[in-house]
Amino acid sequence: MQTWLVTGCSSGLGRAIAEAALSAGARVAATARRVESVAELAQQGSGRCLPVALDVADPASVKAAVLAAEEWAGGIDVLVNNAGFGLYGAVEEVEDDEIRDVFETNILGVARMVRAVLPGMRQRGRGTIVNIGSVAGLVGGPGNAFYAASKFAVEAISEAMHAELRPLGIRTILIEPSGIRTDFHGRSYKRAARRIADYEQTAGKQIAFNLSLNGRQAGDPRRMAATILRLVASENPPFRLLLGASCVERVRAKLTGMLDDIERWEEVSGAVDFANPEFPADRPLPSAAPQK
Ligand SMILES: NC(=O)c1ccc[n+]([C@@H]2O[C@H](COP(=O)([O-])OP(=O)(O)OC[C@H]3O[C@@H](n4cnc5c(N)ncnc54)[C@H](OP(=O)(O)O)[C@@H]3O)[C@@H](O)[C@H]2O)c1
Repeated sequence: MQTWLVTGCSSGLGRAIAEAALSAGARVAATARRVESVAELAQQGSGRCLPVALDVADPASVKAAVLAAEEWAGGIDVLVNNAGFGLYGAVEEVEDDEIRDVFETNILGVARMVRAVLPGMRQRGRGTIVNIGSVAGLVGGPGNAFYAASKFAVEAISEAMHAELRPLGIRTILIEPSGIRTDFHGRSYKRAARRIADYEQTAGKQIAFNLSLNGRQAGDPRRMAATILRLVASENPPFRLLLGASCVERVRAKLTGMLDDIERWEEVSGAVDFANPEFPADRPLPSAAPQK
């Protein structure tokens, strides 16, 4: 029987993953900041679910939660780093404390969980870590810089983990969802306190649009959870999986434009290396690909 530890099980995707793992017969350490919010899950789990208090922004809480889960189950096979929240505001509107808060949970929370769980996984020579990224971790946009920065960081951390842990028998799976119909845009995002009128037509408009989608997001958390379970159970899962047709569309558009620019400017890029001929100052620069 596999043991899963899932962060942020009070609602949304984390809750759906915990429920799906329990239905599949796994043992689940269902963690939440308010442990009472997972009491119902524990009842469903008929002895296979341990509710654990866990705030990933608190190092002592991380250590205690992982220890409790390991003592209960004898080891963690699958860690799902799901806990996270959003931060909206134009770059100039967001203050340091607001950035620190979102990085504390979305980046340091992942790093802390991974550090706490890996010694046991390394000792056993096996394990799977699922990191929940976002389309925002691959495609930036107005009004979303620092949430996106936190999810871009999850990309970088996951790519490094994949290379470092694979030789040790530990798998890393990075999940990139676009909009999921959860409470994220109800209670799991913060709006920067400062507002600057000049950004109303860019960041402000995009934020209002994102919030207007609340309750109508295309992604079904239960189907996502079921897909994550299938990946974990499969022998050869991809390192990165985009979830949601909109995610595929947006990432493809970005990569196509990026590749186009890389190719147009390749000669200029290479001309700074000692070994290559310098790009002549009298030759016109190529033009950038039209922005999508
Ligand atoms: N919804 C989307 O459109 C979307 C798209 C792409 C990626 N994602 C990502 O999916 C993940 C889950 O979000 P969701 O959509 O399921 O939203 P959600 O239902 O609001 O769930 C967010 C969860 O994170 C928990 N959390 C926040 N800060 C925490 C902390 N410091 N320690 C422990 N738990 C914490 C929340 O717990 P509390 O109950 O204590 O607040 C809640 O359980 C997040 O990482 C999010 O960035 C969401």
